[in-house]
Amino acid sequence: MTASAGSSRIGVSGLAVMGANLARNIARRGTPVAVHNRTAARTKEFMQAYGDEGAFTPAESLEDFVAALERPRRIIVMVKAGKPVDAVIEELSPLLDEGDIIIDAGNSHFDDTKRRTAACAERGLRFMGVGVSGGEEGALLGPSIMPGGDPAAYAEVEEILTGIAAVVDGTPCCVHVGPDGAGHYVKMVHNGIEYADIQLIAEAYDLLTHVAGLDAPAIAKIFEEWNSGDLESFLIEITAKVLAKTDEKTGGPLVDVIVDEAQQKGTGTWTAVDALGLGVPLTGITEAVFARGLSALSGERRAAAKTLSGPNPSAAENREDLVDDIRQALYASKVVAYAQGFAQMRAASVANGWDLDLGAMATIWRGGCIIRAQFLNRITEAYAEHGDVENLLMVPYFTEAVANAQDAWRRVVITATEQGVPVPAFASSLSYYDAYRRERVPANLIQGLRDFFGAHTYRRIDAEGSYHTRWSQDGTEVRTDV
Ligand code: 6PG
Repeated sequence: MTASAGSSRIGVSGLAVMGANLARNIARRGTPVAVHNRTAARTKEFMQAYGDEGAFTPAESLEDFVAALERPRRIIVMVKAGKPVDAVIEELSPLLDEGDIIIDAGNSHFDDTKRRTAACAERGLRFMGVGVSGGEEGALLGPSIMPGGDPAAYAEVEEILTGIAAVVDGTPCCVHVGPDGAGHYVKMVHNGIEYADIQLIAEAYDLLTHVAGLDAPAIAKIFEEWNSGDLESFLIEITAKVLAKTDEKTGGPLVDVIVDEAQQKGTGTWTAVDALGLGVPLTGITEAVFARGLSALSGERRAAAKTLSGPNPSAAENREDLVDDIRQALYASKVVAYAQGFAQMRAASVANGWDLDLGAMATIWRGGCIIRAQFLNRITEAYAEHGDVENLLMVPYFTEAVANAQDAWRRVVITATEQGVPVPAFASSLSYYDAYRRERVPANLIQGLRDFFGAHTYRRIDAEGSYHTRWSQDGTEVRTDV
């Protein structure tokens, strides 16, 4: 079916798998879609494969593509983040009219989105940075959508976007996040949390393999069981599936023949870097990024494995108890990773003036996206009941959950350390928890040292003002702020 020119409600440019599936998702729900790709052959292939799924208008040139759209023109750009996005905007802009809307649905950096929003506004165009999560299948069947940009522009696409999003308990997983870079920021933190979640799962798998002595099919069953409790989530579900998969070539578990070098496209790193800039302690996600980096040093690791010594491994005394401890450690560490990610969004919201509704963010992550989980209902409830919480650990549900898990969590970190199994995300989450609940941390000494070598001053617990001690002179203290 081909619709006539000017009648498409929306256009999708970039027909690699994510763009193609988004276009199909929109068209399958009855919205006419114009489709375009830089190489026209791909548009042809798209039409051959899916042309009968809805009212598509294929366009070989950007001119034809733009002409196929009703006004204001709504254009989803789904190309690789970075320069390709700028290139498409440059080519599109002269063809568009005031008020037309360009929607970048890729994983762009939020600073790029801010810059593009301002540049488009100068040309009278409305730019939206929209986070889309859920991979290929999500894009086709219902992703989680995090739209950022001018609210009036969002109103022009709201019906289409909420119509294609995943739905949980009757609520679409799509809500206007905030202005300019807010949507891409939230998507970035989503990905950071995805890194932490995946790293925690990998650490649990490592412990189950090397301390509990279980093989991949047995661990698959454990994850399957865990998926019916507090940990229920897409990532736990697919972990069971990945671990259960038999390799056709060797007849053994596929996971055993996959190279142990984790790759990354950058969103986890962006999350960690931004947290450092904001001064938000984001240990879980950051350790997950470092762990991927360390995994990639495989040549060095192979050499070090022969040179650097570790403890002699010993078998677990009670395997069942250990397995349950790991489950609890995983849950508690996950709570910390989410608490940190939400604290980061809160800080970014203030820093950028975005006024993010954090409860709504948890709500739209309940379905469609990679980190979708039962657990997110608890976060939605936490914000609904307690408003603007500084840290989710302080919400009674999570306070209790972590308190209940902490003995197991500590045992797991101790055992891992004794056995020489690295658990950076488990251990750093526990350290964060222990530091966050401390009334007094050793930063008093840090301040003393800074004052000693650099006269950086310190504050006193018993008086106002800032002070410097003349450490190397007469040892007297002077007040520096008067
Ligand atoms: C999603 C995913 C998606 C992608 C990640 C993978 O929400 O659908 O997060 O965006 O799979 O970018 O990231 P890495 O390649 O960095 O692991």
